[in-house]
Amino acid sequence: MLVCNVVGARPNFMKIAPIVDELRRRDLPQLLVHTGQHYDANMSQVFFDELGLPRPDIDLEIGSDSHARQTARVMMAFEAVCLQHLPDLVIVVGDVNSTLAAALVAAKLHIPVAHVEAGLRSFDQSMPEEINRIVADHLSTLLFTTEQAGTDNLQREGVAAGKIHFVGNCMADTLLKHAAVAVEQSPWQAFDLTPGAYALLTLHRPANVDDFATFSALLRALDSVTARLPLLFPVHPRTRARLEDWRVPLPANLKLVEPQPYLAFLGLMARARLVLTDSGGVQQETTMLNVPCLTLRDTTELPVTLSAGTNRLVGHDVALIATSVQQIMEGQWPTGQHPPLWDGQVGRRIVDVIEMWAAGRSSAASPHGV
Ligand code: UD1
Repeated sequence: MLVCNVVGARPNFMKIAPIVDELRRRDLPQLLVHTGQHYDANMSQVFFDELGLPRPDIDLEIGSDSHARQTARVMMAFEAVCLQHLPDLVIVVGDVNSTLAAALVAAKLHIPVAHVEAGLRSFDQSMPEEINRIVADHLSTLLFTTEQAGTDNLQREGVAAGKIHFVGNCMADTLLKHAAVAVEQSPWQAFDLTPGAYALLTLHRPANVDDFATFSALLRALDSVTARLPLLFPVHPRTRARLEDWRVPLPANLKLVEPQPYLAFLGLMARARLVLTDSGGVQQETTMLNVPCLTLRDTTELPVTLSAGTNRLVGHDVALIATSVQQIMEGQWPTGQHPPLWDGQVGRRIVDVIEMWAAGRSSAASPHGV
């Protein structure tokens, strides 16, 4: 059985790493395809190096484009890969355009698809990721969910219960493996920061950064943070472009830096007093690290980070951001718990399910069940 793992953008790399590791440990044949949706060294190569991922067997070098063109280019290139290598299973992770494109190609070639991080819903279809998730899920044969809400959403949408496997969160495997080393490297020193005495910001969602009025209002709302703490801001390329286009006035005490490698960012999160973000991955990682997280969105597809974790949705609400910051500074913040099955064993569980599924297929294909 040949498994084809597909990655494209930064948040995919930490999700695929435990699966690649586990397939390798069991000597199962696999192919790693990078679509090249993210291509800058600090958005891609450095993650491969730090996570110990093998060099991709195939790099499609798609790069950036409009949604339709980017998705279409991945589809055309990935179809050729599938026709050449004839994988028995295509694994896609997360919700980026590469996830959608690879799932569509495989399903149309009748190659079964496994979707890792299935069933998450923000119920906001203005987010491109929501469309990608819904379509990828409904094309998949194996749906691996990270939290109960994922399973519930899929069942409500009519996905057969037998296809859904609640296995936990792959990113937690990667985080647990690397957290100690990440902190040991003291990445805050490079920015003259003191552990526990700085805040960390990420911002890249189109809904937050593509509209001038929204983006500048959000930056102004950060005054309640920067008045108390230095705020480190690793700037995503999309956001960097907007900052350059608009020359938005920036709060004092906001330090703009390049996108950080996995280990440095993990270490920075682990010792931040608080994190502000619009990223999905960061909401999950702060919950694992038990660091207060203010999510600059009105919805989240990750409700367990609100109920069990350290996350709070603050949208663009200046007053709520200010009150939340004050509560965090006064130590009045709920202590997070690791959500169920975010335990470092997720890659193993996923490959167990894949092996059982493959065994079931081969016995069904043989008239004698051997
Ligand atoms: C993509 C994902 C998003 C994910 C995010 C993580 C989709 C629809 N969105 O958004 O879900 O949270 O990745 O980062 O798939 N660019 C570079 N260098 C790179 C990559 C991008 O400069 O290595 C620039 C390009 O100018 C591009 C822009 O960033 O136009 C946005 O990149 P794109 O892949 O379109 O989407 P992201 O905003 O990164």
